[in-house]
Amino acid sequence: MRKVRVGTAAPYDVLIGENLTPETVSRITDNCKKVILLWDEAVFSGYVAEIGNALEKEGKEVMAVSLEGGEGAKTIESYARIMKIISEFNLTRSDVIFGIGGGTVMDLAGFVASTYKRGVELVQLPTSLLAACDASVGGKNALNMGEEKNVIGTFYQPSLVAIDTRFLDALNDEVFSEGCAEIIKMGYIGDAEMIEMLEKKPLLKNRKDSEYLIEIITRCIRLKAAIVASDERDNGPRNILNLGHTLGHAIEAESNYKIHHGRAVAMGLVLITGISEKKGIAETGTLARLIKILTDHGLEWRCPYNLHVLAGHVERDKKVRGGTLPVIVPERFGSCVLMKVKVSEIRKWLTEE
Ligand code: GLY
Repeated sequence: MRKVRVGTAAPYDVLIGENLTPETVSRITDNCKKVILLWDEAVFSGYVAEIGNALEKEGKEVMAVSLEGGEGAKTIESYARIMKIISEFNLTRSDVIFGIGGGTVMDLAGFVASTYKRGVELVQLPTSLLAACDASVGGKNALNMGEEKNVIGTFYQPSLVAIDTRFLDALNDEVFSEGCAEIIKMGYIGDAEMIEMLEKKPLLKNRKDSEYLIEIITRCIRLKAAIVASDERDNGPRNILNLGHTLGHAIEAESNYKIHHGRAVAMGLVLITGISEKKGIAETGTLARLIKILTDHGLEWRCPYNLHVLAGHVERDKKVRGGTLPVIVPERFGSCVLMKVKVSEIRKWLTEE
């Protein structure tokens, strides 16, 4: 088992390894009498039962609440339903909420834990590679408001994250490769050595090599932990995690969310790298390397929409502050710069030849 400490105001551990239930349960204190398991109905129910049984053996009263996966988990209605269940279960402030699922469950569980009685302890057990390498760590949570994604939310750190690779084994290649897009992004922003590792030994083809998988995830978490600790509330340096995301979110929205997050981020990385090379910011050859590594990880890099279409979404991006949009621009693998582009100039900035 590997362990990464996240040095936020209230620090916590991220555990990465196989079969983490005993270690996870051993960290729940005696003060906690009740545990709510919020779990994605797509997760293998035997695993949820394993966690529930282990907690019950420690004398905890457990209630498991299944959630519809995907963005449906993040509606105000779903939030209200969960709050009612938790309140009827009489969860107190010394008790614990577990989130078990992909990114949407991490987002909902985080928001529930941060708002129920003004905050109860949260343990995140991500079950997708994407959630393991991104949403489970860093304390961002969110609900959607109708069509508007992630407009309601808080910063609220978990007390523990346990990335149990047994979950990741169960993912099909298509879902696994979505997580690879976030991993490649992490290497791109700050771990050039990991990019070289992935070039020599693509994770998608080597996903059954559990030591390798654990090493790659640990490198991503270490980097994310350092970035989050330097800017817990996303006021500057943490923006770097958005490499490829501004255009990625535009692609997701333009496709009516038929292109999923990881795939949209892969295309967003390609677009921003192409723009950066054209402007003479990225080293020549970066784009070709990126395309090869994405292809080796089962990710389509060609975007079906042109930059003029995507610019309309980018102009309405929720990161716009004071009329400017922070854009993360790659220089080479392992190095990016933050540029502030006026919203009134963003279309020209994206599309100029
Ligand atoms: N997913 C980006 C962040 O945690 O800031």
